[in-house]
Amino acid sequence: MKKLLVTMALPYANGDIHIGHMVEAVQTDIFVRAQKMTGREVRFICADDTHGTPIQVNAMKQGITPEELIARAWDNHTRDYALFGIDFDIFSSTNSDENRQWAEKIYLAMKADGLIKEKTIEQYFCEHDKMFLPDRFIKGTCPKCGATDQYGDNCEKCGATYNAEELTSPACALCGNTPILRETSHFFMDMEPKREFLKSYLTSGEVLQADMKAFIMNWTEDLQPRCISRDEPYFGFKIPGTEDKYFYVWLDAPVGYVSSTQKWCDANGRDVSEFWGKDADSEVVHCIGKDIVYFHSIMWPVMLDSVDCKLPSRIMIHGFLTVEGEKMSKSRGTFIQAKDYADRVNHADATQFLRLYYASKLTGGNNDLDFNIDEFINRINSTLVNNIGNFQNRASTFLDRFFDSTVPDADWDETIAAEAVAAANTVRENLIGGNYRVAFDAIHALGSVANKYFQDTKPWELVKLDDKSTVNVALVTCLNLVRTLGTLLKPIVPEIAARIEKQFGETFDWSSAAFAIRGKKIGTAEKLALPLETEMFETLYATTPEKPVLPEPEEELIEFPDFQKVKLRVGEVISAEKMKKSKKMMKIQINDGWKTRQIMSGIAEHYEPEQLIGKKVVFVSNLKPAKLMGELSEGMILAAEDASGALSMLSTEKEFDAGSLIS
Ligand code: MSP
Ligand code: ZN
Repeated sequence: MKKLLVTMALPYANGDIHIGHMVEAVQTDIFVRAQKMTGREVRFICADDTHGTPIQVNAMKQGITPEELIARAWDNHTRDYALFGIDFDIFSSTNSDENRQWAEKIYLAMKADGLIKEKTIEQYFCEHDKMFLPDRFIKGTCPKCGATDQYGDNCEKCGATYNAEELTSPACALCGNTPILRETSHFFMDMEPKREFLKSYLTSGEVLQADMKAFIMNWTEDLQPRCISRDEPYFGFKIPGTEDKYFYVWLDAPVGYVSSTQKWCDANGRDVSEFWGKDADSEVVHCIGKDIVYFHSIMWPVMLDSVDCKLPSRIMIHGFLTVEGEKMSKSRGTFIQAKDYADRVNHADATQFLRLYYASKLTGGNNDLDFNIDEFINRINSTLVNNIGNFQNRASTFLDRFFDSTVPDADWDETIAAEAVAAANTVRENLIGGNYRVAFDAIHALGSVANKYFQDTKPWELVKLDDKSTVNVALVTCLNLVRTLGTLLKPIVPEIAARIEKQFGETFDWSSAAFAIRGKKIGTAEKLALPLETEMFETLYATTPEKPVLPEPEEELIEFPDFQKVKLRVGEVISAEKMKKSKKMMKIQINDGWKTRQIMSGIAEHYEPEQLIGKKVVFVSNLKPAKLMGELSEGMILAAEDASGALSMLSTEKEFDAGSLIS
């Protein structure tokens, strides 16, 4: 069997792993585990995708270096994947020496092949932020439908795609200023000369799954040059032979598949060419989401071909996760981080259960899949708890009780043994083939066969007979079924299957699915899984209010004497009362240092009167008195307002006497 290298898309270091990313991680991990159980050498390679403008800008916003930002992301990402049992051989980073070397090597090879063209183009430049703006950093009005606040590449309202220059009233998404068009030269990857290569590659073997083929082959008819360079400031690799141009993140991201393999090989005394050499006895499989197909099916094979690397033999493409029938949404609380899922779902096996649930929905096609709490609870309980778990528990505790945990030395039921083998074949073929739903159904069906067998043979009655031969047949059959079910569950829920492995004192591979145990003492049973209950999901959709970020305002400058005119002082609140006629206004008496004065303040929605009594506040003491809501107001209490509209009153850092002047 050929060596197998499996990758999943490299997650952006710019954000946390959410349960949508987990669809892909679970899909890939199940595939890898199913393949490893065949005994072939399989390596699971991944890394963080660390370059690009958003990472640069985010690091700047947080006041840290991009290197610090990606180091934090790496810690979080590896922690989160581990929680879900995603078992990489290596989880590396695209910001590595190996990746730089490979990116340069591939670029130079494409250049030598005449596939790199230089062109001068006009691009939006923000004079305030001193940078060329990528499409996602420009917002404006859609030229097609007039929707405001749309990105520079496509409109979320009408779905139109366009160039950023076509937006009406474009604005920099960072500062809100109007960008200008400026000339800049860029490198483009020309795929036109590789049309025939792509056509023959993409139709060979089983590279593309059926539901994507026509769509992708269409692209080969219209191969537009793709820009692969970016201007400073950019966190990434400088392009060799240039002073100030960087590889666009999508050039060095897939290169991470090769460079991370190299890293693993270097650490394990192996050679990267064993996997990526054109003639290596190996196979490469990529697992990706349907949004990044162009890069993987068109650009990446051209890049690999230039450096004589192995071409992927299969690109597995999955759809997107929705939550309760809708796109994940921060405001609805359904944009669920993987870590939050693990923390909030109150069941020790929550992450394993999600693997099983996803498996029951993955068909090997690009259809979207929905996360739905009721369905989730139902599916886990009906398959794992009430079906397989119930059978495992009944059969095993019976063996513990009446047979001292020893599987009888008897002939098993051949019909059932054959059913187990047939189910195992279906499960193995479909986990390797990608239709996990069929595998899931086959496991469930075998669980039902097992329960029925136990129920029909009635071992609790047979055991009372003097002739033990029939109960022996029943129990040897049942315990081998438990073992088969454990084996079939292993790639999907390895931690849960490990409970059965422990019971049998074995490490299962596909051969363990066949009946083989008799006349053997095994361990006592452990409960396979406890049921899921609705209450365990109570806090899953808890919303963490997201603070909007306001654009930096343009402010008119004033002279110092103007500021000096405003007298600010410390005051102490003596009493406060809400107004009957206004939700906003509060009538407040303060000690201004010399006397009591009354101030009307618009804070009633943010503070209760009792909270204010005795508080030291900051107020304007030389404001001309005015009437507000029919009440005299002699001054103004200061408060800060954040982007979400919350209010916080000002006070001095040390408690100062009322009347103290602030300047
Ligand atoms: N960094 C690129 C991939 C580079 S590969 C050389 C990227 N990163 S990502 O973090 O945005 O997405 C990583 C993977 O997660 C992609 O395959 C993407 O399709 C997948 N998913 C992101 N959101 C998803 C869902 N809601 N549902 C399912 N998969 C999702 O793209
Ligand atoms: Zn700007």
